[in-house]
Amino acid sequence: MIEKDNPSVLFVCLGNICRSPLVEAVARRRCAEAGLRVALASCGTGNWHVGKGADPRMLRAAAAAGYDLAPHRARQVRSDDFSRHDWVLAMDRDNLDSLQSLRGDRGSKPTLFLPWAGMASPVEFPDPYFGDEDGFQQSVALAERAVDGLIARLRAG
Ligand code: 4NP
Repeated sequence: MIEKDNPSVLFVCLGNICRSPLVEAVARRRCAEAGLRVALASCGTGNWHVGKGADPRMLRAAAAAGYDLAPHRARQVRSDDFSRHDWVLAMDRDNLDSLQSLRGDRGSKPTLFLPWAGMASPVEFPDPYFGDEDGFQQSVALAERAVDGLIARLRAG
C-alpha cells in the first residue's frame, strides 16, 4: 500500500553500473510515459565503481533500445536509504542479504525486485557483468518486462 502521492523507489545491484542503472532508466522513461509521479534512484551494495559511469556494454545495449545511461554515476547504498525510499528493491539474493545486514531494524524492508514487480520467473535478475554482449541485451528485455509489472503495481497502489 503506497501512502505517499509520490513514492520513492531505489533499485539496488552489486556494482551500480549494469542492472540497477538500466532498470532505473527504463522505469524513468516508462513512468513518465504513464504519467506516474514517482522518484527513482539506484545504487550498489559494493564500492568498487563509485563515481564511475555505467559499464560500456550496458551503455551500448541500453542505447540500442533508446535508453540513455550516459549521465549515470555509480554510488554505494547508505544506511539512510532505508528511510529515504519507500521501496528498496534488490536485483538478486546476494544484494538482498547485504541490504538486510545494513538496514538493521528500521526503515523500508528490502525485497527482491522481480517478484515485487509480479514476475514468477526469474526470481533474481541475472548479473550480465561476467558474460557476453547477449547478456546485456537480455538484461534490457528483462528490465522492460519487469518495469511493466512495476507500473502495474504502482498504479494499483
Ligand atoms: P551490476 O553488475 O551489479 O549489475 O552493476 C556488476 C558490476 C560489477 C561487478 C559485478 C557485477 N564487479 O565484480 O565489479
